[in-house]
Amino acid sequence: MAVGLRESRILIVGLGLIGGSLAAALRANGFRGPILSCDPDADEIARGIEMGLIDRGDTRLESVVEGATLVVLAVPVLAMESVMAQLAGVIDRAAPDVVITDVGSTKAAIREAALAAFGRMPANLVLGHPIAGSEKSGVAAADAGLYARHKVILTPEADTDPDATARVRALWAATGAEVLEMDVARHDQVLARTSHLPHLLAFSLVDTLARQDERLEIFRYAAGGFRDFTRIAGSDPVMWRDIFIANRDAVLASLDDFEAGVARLRRAVECGDGDAMLATFDRASHARHYFESLLNQTSYQAEYQMQQHGKLRYRVSPGGGVTGRIRVPGDKSISHRSIMLGALAEGVTEVKGFLEGEDSLATLQAFREMGVAIEGPQQGRVSVHGVGMHGLKAPSGPLYVGNAGTAMRLFAGLLAGQAFDTELTGDASLTRRPMGRVADPLRQMGAEIDTAEGGRPPLHIHGGKALEGISYDMPMASAQVKSCLLLAGLYAQGETRVREPAPTRDHTERMLTGFGYRVHREGDTCWLEGGGKLTAAPIDVPSDISSATFFLVAAAITPGSDLILEHVGINPTRIGVINILQLMGADLRLENEHEVGGEPVADLHIRYAPLKGIEIPVDQVPLAIDEFPALFIAAANAEGTTRLRGAGELRVKESDRLQAMADGLGVLGVEHSLREDGIDIVGSGGKGVSYAGGRIDSLGDHRIAMAFTIAALRASEEIVIDDCANVATSFPGFIDLARRVGLSLEEQQEAS
Ligand code: S3P
Repeated sequence: MAVGLRESRILIVGLGLIGGSLAAALRANGFRGPILSCDPDADEIARGIEMGLIDRGDTRLESVVEGATLVVLAVPVLAMESVMAQLAGVIDRAAPDVVITDVGSTKAAIREAALAAFGRMPANLVLGHPIAGSEKSGVAAADAGLYARHKVILTPEADTDPDATARVRALWAATGAEVLEMDVARHDQVLARTSHLPHLLAFSLVDTLARQDERLEIFRYAAGGFRDFTRIAGSDPVMWRDIFIANRDAVLASLDDFEAGVARLRRAVECGDGDAMLATFDRASHARHYFESLLNQTSYQAEYQMQQHGKLRYRVSPGGGVTGRIRVPGDKSISHRSIMLGALAEGVTEVKGFLEGEDSLATLQAFREMGVAIEGPQQGRVSVHGVGMHGLKAPSGPLYVGNAGTAMRLFAGLLAGQAFDTELTGDASLTRRPMGRVADPLRQMGAEIDTAEGGRPPLHIHGGKALEGISYDMPMASAQVKSCLLLAGLYAQGETRVREPAPTRDHTERMLTGFGYRVHREGDTCWLEGGGKLTAAPIDVPSDISSATFFLVAAAITPGSDLILEHVGINPTRIGVINILQLMGADLRLENEHEVGGEPVADLHIRYAPLKGIEIPVDQVPLAIDEFPALFIAAANAEGTTRLRGAGELRVKESDRLQAMADGLGVLGVEHSLREDGIDIVGSGGKGVSYAGGRIDSLGDHRIAMAFTIAALRASEEIVIDDCANVATSFPGFIDLARRVGLSLEEQQEAS
């Protein structure tokens, strides 16, 4: 028998697509008890028996109800009342232990029908709705897989028998569905928007076109867009008539919203307002991808990419050169902040050089969810229409930030100051990362934040709390924690002061200043006073030194290399990698130094020179925190041992980077010894090959994947790296640039 399903006799009233598919799914999943059916159409019953879906059936309810333990009403919504009335007359006598459920697409009307038929809501009646279907109808179209991985919504009431609810849950679980509960009114509103409105539009569009004279021509040449949009117009007309009658009010409300949206677009088309069209299409297109990723709970773009290409593996050939002049994408930290501060500012913030990677796009999407109009990104250009410090709106669901730790931690501060509640969620990697480091000090400020066990995501942030400035001594050198508190401090009473144990990136402070907000610094402490406002200012995002690092190291380890990386951000709090490579003996020069929008930039010119192992100065660790995976590859090629200490933070990045790198170095045969807060790596020196090839698991960590990609320049064999889709979180176009400078690699779809 199907797991957890205790029924001994199931009766399905109405043997169409939905009822027939339920019978088929129960059979396919091992339910061996009798399944009976009642349907006004004797042919459907005969077909159901012939297909092996039901054991017996009849056109009259009285003949099949005897002894049923579970009755499923799968008739059209408007037939529900009369079927329930018939059932009410026989059920107590014929089937005293029965549980009744239904599959109707609207719930308020069916609840009314139940009240009329039974005189009350029986405790053994659990209304439900499987969100699955097809444009086909009739039992002949029954599909055993129709409900697998689909949602079923149950709407039990306060006095519904919990055992009855559990039994209906077990019924749907046996078909492979995921069972959820919500109340009747919410169900009807949600379904009006997500199902009823799209069906209404599809019916209307096809009907309108079919009435036009040239309809034959139109249908003959209709392309995929027409087909995709109108597939559901082939659905059962009677069923849908009933749904629209039954869910009238909720459908009308969603139709009003839709008409207002169409009217806005109509005006834009009429006036040739390309910007307005772009803004709408862009929001919609991103929302659509975001929706997909929410359903799959994978990261935003990686999911999109996987949909197109499957899980990614890199195969990197050994050897190759590193020459040329390239520009890597925009800085991730600055890109996140440009959207955050732009959204809270007054006026329109024009951003250039925005990183179109998954992480910063997740931030951008989250603000769209909170009602901020954002145009782009279009070739790195984004226009953020600021809503002011108090203009954000409550999002309609959780804010999903994918892989982005920066987004989650900075959001925590910013959202703690809002009037509304929010939930922050992320992908599997982010869900393992510590959030107590921001939740604890925010609570000291008066915020109310719930985390999952161990201070992990998701974060539930309760809005409407009065925040008080605090003076916080950070236990770790973290720019994310500092920035989180400064953002909360914007909304706090009085001063918020943060002392850092070592300097960390100061992009938040610089950008706040650029937006006209006073941020003070004295030694290791920075602070601001709450209650001010931000004024939009243009932002020119420099290339990300963390992305440039992979190519700096590539050139540093490859004899004959000569590479220029243009327009790289060289903020003093980010240049640990430059200092460390120079200490190792790299021939690395800064050219064309200048400032853009409050951030220093330069072209980085690097030529091959033999590297030597060093003791990495502890004060450089926070300044190079994201660069260590690549720096470990530099160490593996240097003469002698490189020693890193004081870098325990690497264990709580997108992966445990100390462990992940040690494992990968082990695969290549590089001698190393791992410590709790660091590593010793014994380099090979010399100019030939430095280590073997092999197969590396990047653990879905973008920087591990890119570090081992460049390692292949000095490997004796191919390096194969699994789980690389997340490279898109920080470095879209990495593969193309790697090829352009002289690496030889290909992307492959991993067989899952
Ligand atoms: C970042 C800060 C650093 C860094 C991360 C980006 C930021 O994290 O590793 O990639 O944008 O503030 P920590 O603050 O946890 O050190």
